[in-house]
Amino acid sequence: MADVTLIRRPEQMERVATPAQAQAFIEEQIAALREQIGDKKVLLALSGGVDSSVVAALLIKAVGKQLVCVHVNHGLLRKGEPEQVIKVFRDQMDANLVYVDATDRFLDKLAGVTDPEQKRKIIGGEFIEVFAEEARKLDGVKFLAQGTIWPDVLESEAGVKAHHNAGGLPDDLQFELVEPVRILFKDEVRVVGEALGLPAGMVYRQPFPGPGLGVRCPGAITRDRLEAVRESDAILREEFASAGLEGKVWQYFTVVPDFKSTGVKDGKRSFEWPVIIRAVNTKDAMTATVENLPFELMQKLTARITGEVKGVNRVLYDFTPKPTATIEYE
Ligand code: XMP
Repeated sequence: MADVTLIRRPEQMERVATPAQAQAFIEEQIAALREQIGDKKVLLALSGGVDSSVVAALLIKAVGKQLVCVHVNHGLLRKGEPEQVIKVFRDQMDANLVYVDATDRFLDKLAGVTDPEQKRKIIGGEFIEVFAEEARKLDGVKFLAQGTIWPDVLESEAGVKAHHNAGGLPDDLQFELVEPVRILFKDEVRVVGEALGLPAGMVYRQPFPGPGLGVRCPGAITRDRLEAVRESDAILREEFASAGLEGKVWQYFTVVPDFKSTGVKDGKRSFEWPVIIRAVNTKDAMTATVENLPFELMQKLTARITGEVKGVNRVLYDFTPKPTATIEYE
């Protein structure tokens, strides 16, 4: 069996930019996947992000129920995300989908942990453990599918980042890799995703870190503050969509820092958290500039967030470009 990790993007390969090019790529990949996988089972960690969603959709077309998708909800996803994964993949595409709500496991392990790197380690380690437990429950899985894309390969080779998720799995779980979007750039993955019929909200979604809302709830995560992050993020996304900013601003989200300040609500003193709004533009996330948001939108966001999100009495806008700030807070 050929090692897929040796597959390289051909030097002269044309950029996949049109539906027809995407269709040709899809047909080629389906044939290659059927040939590689035969009648065996394939496992995929389906986060709902662009890359894993496109890989899932391709594999469903190629091998149908031989694919087992595992969606781990670590409790740090955005509002509506697990529901969307279930709706699109189980209900609409009839995929074999294992949904694991591991919220309590993750949040219990994270309780009281303030160090950002420690938080990341716990989230990453627990994710692999939950995924491995699910994998062990299944019989006859020979392959592990991954949403590796071409920039991941290049960055791994340049020593910038290690991207091999499979590298983290315990020794008793040895799989052959399947990487059907390995030779594509991100914009090409999106074109292929659209051609596969995935919803635009999934294909064009903004980048979202693996540790999820955990890095937007700085310091020790508590359920109530995490809920304030999730609810304010949902309001921000809704208002950006109404204002026509969806797809125009590169990344936008809210952060709820771990301090409270005095305010007044319903004629009474309040002592609650602020919500910080971040909205940035960038090409490669190495540097970033701040979006010039209309004042009316800021006012609307402030009114909705302070009115609808429990435990919040202020809204702030972060004007800091990268550098000196990073995009995320942890
Ligand atoms: P920073 O905060 O370093 O973020 O300016 C740059 C981009 O990377 C994303 N990011 C992450 N993505 N795991 C991820 O998958 C992470 O731990 C992580 N940290 C930051 C961030 O959202 C931004 O787009």
